[in-house]
Amino acid sequence: MSPGTAKPVPTRPARFTLDPSFTVGGVDPRLFGSFVEHLGRCVYTGIFEPDHPAADEAGIRTDVLELIRELGVTTIRYPGGNYVSGYKWEDSVGPVEDRPHRLDLAWRSTETNRFGLSEYIAFLKKIGPQATPMMAINLGTRGVAEALELQEYANHPQGTALSDLRRAHGDKDPFGIRLWCLGNEMDGHWQTGHKTAAEYGRIAAETARAMRQIDPSVELVACGSSAQWLPTFAEWEATVLQETYDLVDYISLHAYYEPHDGDIDSFLASAVDMESVIDTVVATCDHVGARLKSKKKINLSFDEWNVCYGLDLTGAENSDSQDWPQAPRVLENSYSVLDAVVVGSLLIALTRHADRVRVACLAQLVNAIAPIMTEPGGPAWRQTTFFPFAQASKYGRGQVLDVRVDSPTYETQKHGEVDLLHATAVRAEDGSVTVFAVNRSRARSLPLHVTLNGLGLTSVVGHSALADADPDARNTLTDHDRVTPRQVSGTTLGDGTLSAVLEPLSWNVIRLA
Ligand code: AHR
Repeated sequence: MSPGTAKPVPTRPARFTLDPSFTVGGVDPRLFGSFVEHLGRCVYTGIFEPDHPAADEAGIRTDVLELIRELGVTTIRYPGGNYVSGYKWEDSVGPVEDRPHRLDLAWRSTETNRFGLSEYIAFLKKIGPQATPMMAINLGTRGVAEALELQEYANHPQGTALSDLRRAHGDKDPFGIRLWCLGNEMDGHWQTGHKTAAEYGRIAAETARAMRQIDPSVELVACGSSAQWLPTFAEWEATVLQETYDLVDYISLHAYYEPHDGDIDSFLASAVDMESVIDTVVATCDHVGARLKSKKKINLSFDEWNVCYGLDLTGAENSDSQDWPQAPRVLENSYSVLDAVVVGSLLIALTRHADRVRVACLAQLVNAIAPIMTEPGGPAWRQTTFFPFAQASKYGRGQVLDVRVDSPTYETQKHGEVDLLHATAVRAEDGSVTVFAVNRSRARSLPLHVTLNGLGLTSVVGHSALADADPDARNTLTDHDRVTPRQVSGTTLGDGTLSAVLEPLSWNVIRLA
C-alpha cells in the first residue's frame, strides 16, 4: 500500500526531543568507510587508469581522487569481497612486468595485478590521512601461513626475508595495516573455499592467534553472516565467536537492499531490517560473551552495505563468456533519488547504533555499486547516493544523541507498520548539532518538531534536502548534475523548538549552532 494513496497519511507532525544527557555514544570515523574490490571497473578505469588525461604519474585518476576526498570516506576495505578468496597477495607486488595474470573465479574475469598492494597503500596516502587501510586476507583457498607472510611483508620494518623484499620493491616504510578482515563471507555457498561455521571458526581463531603473535595490537574482524536470509544467520555468529571471542575485535555484517516485486514502500523501510540485523548480532555477541563469562565486548564491522540491484554471486553475469574479460562492466548500478533516500536512511541506521557499529563500509567506491562513476578516458561524476554519504561523513562526527521519534506511520508488506520519519542527531565537539532525517512518505510532506533541551542552540545554520518531483531522477554520463541537494527555507528555531517541513521522499540535513 502506498502512503497517501489507498490509506490517507496522517498530517500530524513527527516529533522528538534532544537532550545532551541522553546519548548513544561517540562516532568512530571509520563508520564512514568504503570498499575497493577487484570487481568490474572499480579498480581498472575507476581509480586507476594510466592512459587517462587526469591520471597522475602512478596512474591514479586525480579527478576521481578529488571526488573521493569530497565524499569523505575514511577506512577503505581491500581487495575484496569475493575476490579475496582466490587472492595471492604475492602476485600483486614487485615489478609490474613480472606480475602474473590470473583467473578471478569470483567475477569470471582476468586479473592483471597491474594495481596491487603497494598501489593500494599509495592510493590511500593520496586521499589523505583520514583514509586508512582495511585489508582482507584470503581464508578461502589459503590459510594461516599466507596470512602471516602478508602481515610480515606489509608491516614488519625490516631485517626479515619478506620485509626486506618489500623494501627491495621500493616501499621502505612498513604499510602499518592495523585493521584486518579474516576472510570474506565464508558462510556463502558462492565463496571459493566456503566453510561451515565450525571449520571457519577454527581457521579464523588459528589465524588470529598467529597474527597476534606478530603484533598483539592488530584489530581483527571475524566473518559474520553474509546475509540475514541465510539459514545459518545468528547460529553462524554464535559458533564462530565461541572459537574466536578472545582473539578478535569485530564481527562483520553485510546487507544489500533493493525493491522486490515493485514494493517501494518496504524498500523505503530497508533501515528497519538493517537495525534489526544489528540488534540481533549485538545480542548474539553479548550472549556468547555471557556464556564465556567475558567482560570484553565484540563490536560490529558493517563492512558491506548499500542499495544494490542485480547482485549475482555466482559470477553468472559473465558466465556464458569463455573469454574471461579484463575489468568488464559489472554491477554498474545507476542510482535514483529514491535510492539516495534509502541510502540516507541506512546511514541514519548505522549512526543510531554507533556505540556498537564501529566500522562500516559503503560497498563499493567507484563504478561497481558505487557513489562515483567514471567513463574510461572520460569524465567522473557523483551519483545521487554520493550526497547523503558525503553529508553524513562531514556532519556526522561527534556524540550521537538518543532519538526516539513519535511519528505518523504507514503500512509495509515486509516490515508491518513503519514510522514515516527516520532520524538521528549528532553533536559535534563545538556543541553544534546536526539532525539527519528521512521522510519516507511518497505522497505527503511531513512537519517535524524537535524539542531541544539544554543544548544551547540558537540558530539554524542550514537545511539541505535531497528530493525531486521525479523520484527516478538520476545523474548520468550526459547529465552529471541533474540531482543535487538544495537549501530549504522556512526551517526555524524558536522557544527551544526546531520546526521544519520534510518534503515527500526526502533526505534532510538540518544544522544547528
Ligand atoms: O560487493 C559485491 C560482493 O558482494 C562482494 O564481493 C561480496 O563480499 C558480496 O557478496
